[in-house]
Amino acid sequence: MGRYRETYERWQRDPEGFWAEAANAIDWVKPWDKVLAGENGLFRWFEGAQCNTCYNALDRHVEQGHGERLALIYDSPVTGTIRHFTYAGLLDEVATFAAVLESHGVKKGDTVVIYMPMVPEAAIAMLACARIGAIHSVVFGGFAAKELATRIDDAKPVLIVSASCGIEPGRTVAYKPLLDQAMDMAAHKPRAAIILARPQLEAGLVAGRDFDWAAEMAQARAEGRKAACVPVDATDPLYVLYTSGTTGKPKGVVRDNGGYMVALAWSMRNIYDIGPGDVFWCASDVGWVVGHSYIVYGPLLCGSTSVLFEGKPVGTPDAGTFWRVIAEHGARALFTAPTALRAIKREDPQASLAGNYDLSSFKTLFLAGERADPDTVQWAERSLPGRPVIDHWWQTETGWAIAADPVGLEALPVKYGSPTVPMPGYDVRVVDEAGHAVPAGTTGSIVIKLPLPPGCLPTLWHNDAGFRDSYLMDFPGFYKTGDAGYIDEDGYLYIMARTDDIINVAGHRLSTGGMEEVLAGHPDVAECAVIGVADSLKGQMPVGFIVLNKGVTRPAAEIEREAVALVREKIGPVAAFKVALCVQRLPKTRSGKILRGTMRKIADGEAWNMPATVDDPAILDEIEALLQNAGLAPQRAE
Ligand code: COA
Ligand code: AMP
Repeated sequence: MGRYRETYERWQRDPEGFWAEAANAIDWVKPWDKVLAGENGLFRWFEGAQCNTCYNALDRHVEQGHGERLALIYDSPVTGTIRHFTYAGLLDEVATFAAVLESHGVKKGDTVVIYMPMVPEAAIAMLACARIGAIHSVVFGGFAAKELATRIDDAKPVLIVSASCGIEPGRTVAYKPLLDQAMDMAAHKPRAAIILARPQLEAGLVAGRDFDWAAEMAQARAEGRKAACVPVDATDPLYVLYTSGTTGKPKGVVRDNGGYMVALAWSMRNIYDIGPGDVFWCASDVGWVVGHSYIVYGPLLCGSTSVLFEGKPVGTPDAGTFWRVIAEHGARALFTAPTALRAIKREDPQASLAGNYDLSSFKTLFLAGERADPDTVQWAERSLPGRPVIDHWWQTETGWAIAADPVGLEALPVKYGSPTVPMPGYDVRVVDEAGHAVPAGTTGSIVIKLPLPPGCLPTLWHNDAGFRDSYLMDFPGFYKTGDAGYIDEDGYLYIMARTDDIINVAGHRLSTGGMEEVLAGHPDVAECAVIGVADSLKGQMPVGFIVLNKGVTRPAAEIEREAVALVREKIGPVAAFKVALCVQRLPKTRSGKILRGTMRKIADGEAWNMPATVDDPAILDEIEALLQNAGLAPQRAE
């Protein structure tokens, strides 16, 4: 029996014993009373234990004599900067910033919103919160003021940490005006904001409310102030991270301290094959779950070196950047989204730029965030000969991989299109609508038997009822992933689509329902629908259909432009919403349900049948013609 099977079966035989053993990788202030507690779907790992996540990520490595080891490498081609932080150096920054937070009255259990670009100060702020038991909520920089305001109102932070700007290729994104607008819009008023002034853009500070990062740090240093680690319960929240749900209101995914640390430490060794001193590069953003787990916490918990990259796979300055970063820092593994590889492939189809760099340190490429299409995986295999290309599947909710090829344990054979097999802790099933298991090879809803393993969300922020409604009601005893797919005869999983209206654009999870809410707010729009259509670079792209109010005489093109601008203004550039089309009417069932699935199939050139319940079949033909005219759907072969 292989090591994977042995390990999975060991977990199946004694789940609590398995995780108790994995918990030895963590230093606890006080051991747990119960490995697993809870009922009715609400579970808690390591109940009764006390710990501190920042202590485990930083202090203990320094105490063990590894203070001079590199903890973080900031590589920013957009600013031409590379900075190295040793464990001792990073600890000094974090303990000092934690003292700054304390001086502003932030204490254990308070929330702090972090709205920052990919700078080391974002990770420092996260770890500083963890140090004093404050709960951080990082908001991705590509979201607009309104999205930030929604998160401020839900998380109710006592303080916000932000920066003067982010840098996107070709443009500087002024963060401060977005923050000011969000603070005006939000009903909840944070006490203070600490702003990192970047040399690329100045930001005016509001007297009495805004404080300058550098000045605050200098003052704390001058006064010799550093904050100590505050013990928290293993079950206390470390962070809240908002993710798209089926409406415009995002869900506040809660992450605990103890279980999360145990799961991440296990995954670093057994999935990613990374140990102390290894360099690990996760090319995501700290605004996403992948960034939380594998730019900040995972690598530091296991004493490795994490690369924090402020740039893009292409254009900063070219399609060789990823290979340059791997070579320059000696990365052993890279974790990115398939869309990033598609972007490189488009500019450098033969990956010839990889030949300019010494990639001898590089062992494995990990992909997640969206389905890894076989073409992209095979291109990466050809471009990086001898290195496994590993697709793995997970969600903001789970915090770490549900399914993977655990190369640290044992590299299983890769099957294209599959993120391989369930990890210990996850009993994954595929079921029909009634919750009955379907045979191997048959597509259905993917569910996970409760309890979820350590690291997964215990609940939604201040919303146990919403947690039950969203994830536990449809399939009693199981967590609904919202993904559909199948398991083959060998137990390999295939993730094919979402069962809800969430789409995946460039590895970013977005709600089409949220975009529809914005479009519906346009004064000339009577009704609308947004679908995700296949895109060769980004995986999917949103396309909006709008029906105008009777009597609107303005040109459709003008309203379409306004609709595009409105989504950018209300949700942000990350929505990548570039196409809105005015239509006379939307295709619906007789009961009034918009046929979004059929519209998507038409756009993607997939076979589709006229739904038996369609109200007026001619409308689907109209939609097809419109999409074809716009170059968004293939012509049908007669
Ligand atoms: N702050 C402000 N704006 C941002 C932003 C940020 N942090 N991140 C993205 N944006 C903007 C982009 O500039 C772009 O704006 P534009 O419409 O003016 O061009 C828009 O949001 C859409 O961004 P994106 O979808 O990322 O497209 P892109 O053309 O900038 O880049 C890729 C395309 C494929 C190179 C890029 O999406 C990528 O690297 N994706 C990997 C994603 C990833 O790692 N996901 C994490 C899951 S593992
Ligand atoms: P997020 O919460 O942003 O990480 O997005 C999670 C969703 O992205 C999942 O529910 C899937 O729909 C999709 N996803 C993530 N990784 C994969 C993968 N490896 N294969 C297929 N879909 C994926």
